[in-house]
Amino acid sequence: MSGQLEGRAGVVTGGARGIGRGIAQAFVAAGARVAIFDRDGAEEAAGAIGGGTLGLPGDVTDEARVAEAFETAAGAFGRFDFLVNNAGVRSQMGFVEHTLAAWRATLDVNLTGTFVCSQAAARLMLARGGGKIVNLASIAGALALTERAAYNASKGGVIALTQSIAAELASQGIQCNAIAPGLVETPLSAPYFADPRMREIIRSNTPLGRWGQVHEIAGPAIFLCSAASDFVHGATLFVDGGWNAAKGY
Ligand SMILES: NC(=O)c1ccc[n+]([C@@H]2O[C@H](COP(=O)([O-])OP(=O)(O)OC[C@H]3O[C@@H](n4cnc5c(N)ncnc54)[C@H](O)[C@@H]3O)[C@@H](O)[C@H]2O)c1
Repeated sequence: MSGQLEGRAGVVTGGARGIGRGIAQAFVAAGARVAIFDRDGAEEAAGAIGGGTLGLPGDVTDEARVAEAFETAAGAFGRFDFLVNNAGVRSQMGFVEHTLAAWRATLDVNLTGTFVCSQAAARLMLARGGGKIVNLASIAGALALTERAAYNASKGGVIALTQSIAAELASQGIQCNAIAPGLVETPLSAPYFADPRMREIIRSNTPLGRWGQVHEIAGPAIFLCSAASDFVHGATLFVDGGWNAAKGY
């Protein structure tokens, strides 16, 4: 991937750990300048990645802080070419027991946070002639993982929001796509892999017979922020070992 993002600059939200950190690292290796926007550990992760990476602490649901931080990134880099909306949280509760507080908290970060950050980035991109927005959805946006009503709904919303941004901003040079990962080994998904029953569910539902690794999401993210994807628009790219394709019987 060396050089695929040469000269480009932008923000990865939730880039302090997990998939976002893998994306930030891979983007720097591909020649990009990256700002990590995360509510926890942004500066530490940026220092560890190096290559001029900026660490910007903040919450994706805080509209004023997002605008301020993204302007800081645009000022420091002199451009704003991409946004990867990766920050996310998971919640697991049976539907009947699901608390309204957990529902709201999940929708707030996963869906509203994606809206807030996309809007702030779009304003900066419009002033500079365009850019690329990539949203982290999930297979959960297309099929129902049980006991995850809020998470599933938030990721279905991310897919719909991706299409809305793509439809509305294409004529102004802004492209928007989503990545829908299957299960990937990160701190967020660690509880799955600790459970032998879940490991078997993942194996049996995935044609490739395994879960994913962070670098396997970073590659598609580079593609969607590079010139190689210039005619890919409003799409959801499933990066799931075939889980979504094989959901029939
Ligand atoms: N891991 C998986 O199996 C998997 C599968 C499908 C989709 N995803 C999606 O990929 C994305 C990354 O997942 P991950 O597994 O790396 O998660 P993770 O928990 O390992 O990392 C998430 C990062 O987002 C940050 N974050 C959370 N809420 C935030 C907020 N309000 N403001 C700013 N930063 C915030 C956290 O501090 C953390 O650094 C999420 O959107 C997740 O839903 C993950």
